[in-house]
Amino acid sequence: MKRIALFLGLALITLILSILFSFCFFSNKNDITSRASISPNNISLSTLQQSTQTLRRLAQPHNLIVGAAVLTDRLQTDRTYQRLLAQEFSGITPENAMKFKALQPERNRYTFEDADMLTAFAQNHRMQIHGHTLVWYRSLPDWLTETQWNSAQLESILRQHIKTVVGHFRGKVQSWDVVNEAIDEEGRSFRDNLWLRGLGSRYIELAFRWAHEADPDARLFYNDYNGELLNAKSNTIYQMVKRLKQKNVPIHGVGLQMHTSINNPPDYRALAANIQRLADLGLAVRITEMDVRTERRFSSKADRLARQAQIYRSVMSVCLQDENCEAFSTWGVADHLSWLRLMMDRNDEPLLFDKQYQPKPAYRSLVELLRSTPS
Ligand code: XIL
Repeated sequence: MKRIALFLGLALITLILSILFSFCFFSNKNDITSRASISPNNISLSTLQQSTQTLRRLAQPHNLIVGAAVLTDRLQTDRTYQRLLAQEFSGITPENAMKFKALQPERNRYTFEDADMLTAFAQNHRMQIHGHTLVWYRSLPDWLTETQWNSAQLESILRQHIKTVVGHFRGKVQSWDVVNEAIDEEGRSFRDNLWLRGLGSRYIELAFRWAHEADPDARLFYNDYNGELLNAKSNTIYQMVKRLKQKNVPIHGVGLQMHTSINNPPDYRALAANIQRLADLGLAVRITEMDVRTERRFSSKADRLARQAQIYRSVMSVCLQDENCEAFSTWGVADHLSWLRLMMDRNDEPLLFDKQYQPKPAYRSLVELLRSTPS
């Protein structure tokens, strides 16, 4: 009797295991990134998947793109990440895959594979790509920084890079951060960098013109941090983009990065006023890199996450009130993959999803806001 029971038990376990195995195998097949691994978290996503209340669906009637910065490695290997991204977001900003160093690691040798994978993913899931970034003082390849170039050489390098990159992604990348972080820390003058030293401040104007020539349909942005509210830096940015508009430089908007913290919530009125004055110049605005540090030192976890939710909600609320605010993007998808953890060594929890890819109070506050705001 015992033997029969043991045999039946073993047979049942074998049957269950083989069903599970074939489910994993077949459900993995038709994905664009077949290297994806199955993680146990897939199961926990099912409730989200059945929901029609995803961020991207709720944001659509508001004409708002909800985006996230994406790490190529994750997209290639993590199936839960893929699903969550496609389900919740309508925009992708490549976190690193379109930076100068990634695209032209050696002079005249362009590596588009990773970025192409991102644009393919975006096309397959009806998402937009916000290209990031053509001209920055960081993420430059050694061949560029370790040689002394004269002005004509540097101009030719930048021109060729922009034309090649924007040309390559023409029709696949809908908008670009053309110039990133060109104003210095004090916010009163141009940042001293390779481009400024070699070309003077005209590199900014040139970059926009070349990008526009390479793809006349792409929307072109100036992107920076600490220029979201009303202060010296946002005034300098405002004056700069005003001058560019007066000179008929093809610039369409300003990216407000919005890296923030529960210890120092933004002044929402100042944010609205800044967006308004840019709108008056005929410029759109995007929240391009939002994250909200919880710092961990203070209060209970529940309290920290509630404060964080309030900040996310209030910023999106300002964005929803101005039709010129066309996108709301977070700098990453889930807490454990945030640049603050991976690069800045901070044990923080700044994003909308936790390390198990579960929605946090911040996520729910955005869903609730999008649902309750008339479109
Ligand atoms: C960061 C990435 O998140 C990191 O992975 C990388 O090592 C350095 O750059 N402002 C920007 C982004 O415009 O490009 C930065 O991204 C974060 C700050």
